[in-house]
Amino acid sequence: MEVEYLRLSLTDRCNLNCIYCTPREKSGYLGHDDLLRHEELARAAGAFVRAGVKKIRLTGGEPLVRKNIVGLVKLLRAIPGLQELALTTNGLLLKDLAVPLREAGLNRVNISLDTLNPATFKLITGSEGLDAAWDGLMASLKAGFSEVKLNVVVMKNINDSEVAEFARLSIDFPLTVRFIEFFPTNERSANLKGALFTTAETKKRIEEVYGPLEELPPAPAGGPARIYRRRGAKGKIGFISGRSGYFCGSCNRVRMDCTGKVYPCLFSPATHDLKELLRGGAPDEVLADYLKKIFLVKSKYRKDSPTAGHIEMSSLGG
Ligand code: GTP
Ligand code: 5AD
Repeated sequence: MEVEYLRLSLTDRCNLNCIYCTPREKSGYLGHDDLLRHEELARAAGAFVRAGVKKIRLTGGEPLVRKNIVGLVKLLRAIPGLQELALTTNGLLLKDLAVPLREAGLNRVNISLDTLNPATFKLITGSEGLDAAWDGLMASLKAGFSEVKLNVVVMKNINDSEVAEFARLSIDFPLTVRFIEFFPTNERSANLKGALFTTAETKKRIEEVYGPLEELPPAPAGGPARIYRRRGAKGKIGFISGRSGYFCGSCNRVRMDCTGKVYPCLFSPATHDLKELLRGGAPDEVLADYLKKIFLVKSKYRKDSPTAGHIEMSSLGG
């Protein structure tokens, strides 16, 4: 599989503290000098595009807590050859940023929201931010993005009772609601024993209420989600089966964290670092050649690699 998709984490900070994502005890945040500056991020992104990347997704932490995110989007949008620039956010800061981000050239947003119930929101995220997230979602639907997706991590006995209500949103709004199987990534999430609620269970719940879902053909390089539609719906429903499914063979993505470490796979160790080359003044071709070599080792890693389970989603952005 050609590497065409970069997930670029902009910060290790987040304004939420989700039970399946953030480590239980965060031992401080990265210092200012560790973080790549905007210009460095844009240069790195340009090198990824030179090495074959066509789509970049901004992640975190929470990417919208990064200072002057609109300015950064403008810098990235100016990279020649970049076909799509997208963002994954918890939506808390999106109400005021949706339009400026769209105007700066952001094409798409995915919003992570696991519950519509304030008490459950507090339980999952440790915060009161449900209203802000909802306002962010509504603002992004009005801002003119090419597509808005909602990511729902389904967890047994935590939010599985809300599956039908979320499916309803895909009927009422032009929204792709994607149900994600929870997977343990760190010590804290490993303790959520028994939280797996499989795609098969989620789909059954939805079809019990809304009738059969029709599967849509996969988009080219469309990622791990399988997409369905209920007749008459404005939006779509998707399932990402990271636990019960296996999509390593069709994976076209790499990741870089906000310090310049490059991960050929979500389950690879942090052995590649672009920061030294960037700060050492390496020319663009050297950066791109370094990345192309990393892309070649991608297929060594898989979901069941011995290195799996040692990354922090909270700083690598999922
Ligand atoms: P689109 O560009 O809209 O397809 O977005 P995306 O699905 O690539 O990005 P998003 O940030 O919305 O991620 C959604 C979920 O997909 C994440 O929560 C992960 O659970 C899952 N996911 C993304 N990439 C991988 C991957 O490489 N492996 C696994 N197992 N899951 C992934
Ligand atoms: N299991 C499943 N999904 C996760 N995400 C973060 N951590 C996990 C996990 N342990 C999801 C977020 C977000 C996306 C980028 O990753 O909910 O939508």
